[in-house]
Amino acid sequence: MGPEEWGEEGVAGLEFLSAIETSAPVEALKRSFYVYPLVNALHILSIGALLTGVFLMDLRILGFLLAQPQAPFVRLMRRLALTAFLGAAVTGTLMFGVRATEYVANPAFALKMVLILLSGANMLVFLHFSARPNDQARRGAGRVLGLLSIVLWLGVLVCGRLIGFL
Ligand code: HEM
Repeated sequence: MGPEEWGEEGVAGLEFLSAIETSAPVEALKRSFYVYPLVNALHILSIGALLTGVFLMDLRILGFLLAQPQAPFVRLMRRLALTAFLGAAVTGTLMFGVRATEYVANPAFALKMVLILLSGANMLVFLHFSARPNDQARRGAGRVLGLLSIVLWLGVLVCGRLIGFL
């Protein structure tokens, strides 16, 4: 599909992405020899902390790490994961700005964003279940959601790595 078939909204969207690519902070990011690799390293640091928090939290929900008291441990790991996600989102958005028009057309990037949204929805559903009485059904649902969370975040990780290859 060529630009002539995109319609007004498509062209406006593309102009917006081009404006991001040439904005002052993104231009500064491209000009500096050190800043982009540093932002990339901070993205990877955030990913490491995020997946550590998510996996330890989900393992406890799945019935492992029983020496840890469930409620405070899960709360602590969730806080770590959310803080690390914020770091990944900020650094990821900065990197996105450098090649915004290419990333929007990259299937791995699109899938990664969808999986991030699904992971967020999964966590909200889990929090909804947590508010209910602690019965067998709730524990069962929690374990399914915990397993799903691990699979979704691994998907985000692999898609993130794939972006550069597609
Ligand atoms: C809003 C959130 C995020 C945005 C906008 C974003 C965006 C990006 C961008 C633009 C890149 C560079 C791709 C390239 O050209 O190679 C990247 C790399 C990557 N991202 Fe993200 N990202 C986000 C969150 C995450 C999260 C939560 C994870 C993992 C759980 C993740 C995993 C990765 C990985 C593994 C790479 C490859 C790093 C490398 O090979 O140097 N990203 N991300």
